[in-house]
This record gives sequence, structure tokens and C-alpha cells, in this order.
Amino acid sequence: ASVAERVRAVVEAHRDERGALLPILHGIQAEFGYIDPEVVPILAAELNLSRADVHGVVTFYSDFRSEPAGAATVRLCRAEACQSVGAEKLVADAEQVFGVKLGQTTPDGSVTLQQVFCLGNCALGPAAQINGRMYGRLDRTRLVEILAKGAE
Ligand code: FES
Repeated sequence: ASVAERVRAVVEAHRDERGALLPILHGIQAEFGYIDPEVVPILAAELNLSRADVHGVVTFYSDFRSEPAGAATVRLCRAEACQSVGAEKLVADAEQVFGVKLGQTTPDGSVTLQQVFCLGNCALGPAAQINGRMYGRLDRTRLVEILAKGAE
């Protein structure tokens, strides 16, 4: 579906709600990950609002992003201590979840997977560094949660 069609589908789902603009904006952000400025005129036309009105609401609420979330670099430890507690399984899970191999970046640019050999966090393996921050005792679920929240 085109961007305009996807936007209209979100609008239709919420059109009858009171104060529909907010739920619609949340829906748009869930659909696209952010609220692209190109979406604002489409919403304005659909809802009979001015572009300035829609833009004002998007910028007023800190919940809304006008750009994609920052890319996350995930460095998975594959050294011995982490291997002994399941690092290879975590690597396989990460490759499966994100659909890319170690050393690659997802097509949308949101996640890069890398390998590293010991992060000095051996007692808490499987370990990984995500955007420079250390994480231990990782498994598939926690990895997905951390990235869904948006790694800092
Ligand atoms: Fe993974 Fe040291 S072996 S942190």
C-alpha cells in the first residue's frame, strides 16, 4: 500500500473517536515508527484541519517523533565464556529476528549486528553492547525488548 493509503487506513480506524487526532497520530507512529512531515498534509486534508494545526500537535507532544528512531548497533559477544552460556544461540536468534547476518544492517537502517570477542562482562553472559551500553544475561526476548524500547 502507498503511504497515503496506509495513512487513510489509520484515519478510518479512529475517525469516529472524540478528539480523533491524537489516537490517529499514535496510530500513524505505530504504523511507520514516526510521523513523517509528508504525512501531515494528508492528515490535515482527511480531518479538515489546517496543516499548522496538525503540525502543532505533533510538535507539542513529546510522544511523537518526526524522524525515525536512531539506529542501534548491537555487538554480540562470541568469546568463550559467553559461548558456554548460549552466545551462539543468541547470535542465531538475533540474525533470525532482524533478518540479517552479523556484520549487516537491516534494510531500514534501524539495527546493525556485529560480533565482538569479550566485552569484559564474562560473568554475565551472554553479553552484548548496544549503542555503547553493556547488557548481560541476554536472551532473544530481552534483546527484542531492549531494541523495541529504543536503545540509548
Ligand atoms: Fe563475553 Fe567476556 S566472553 S564478555
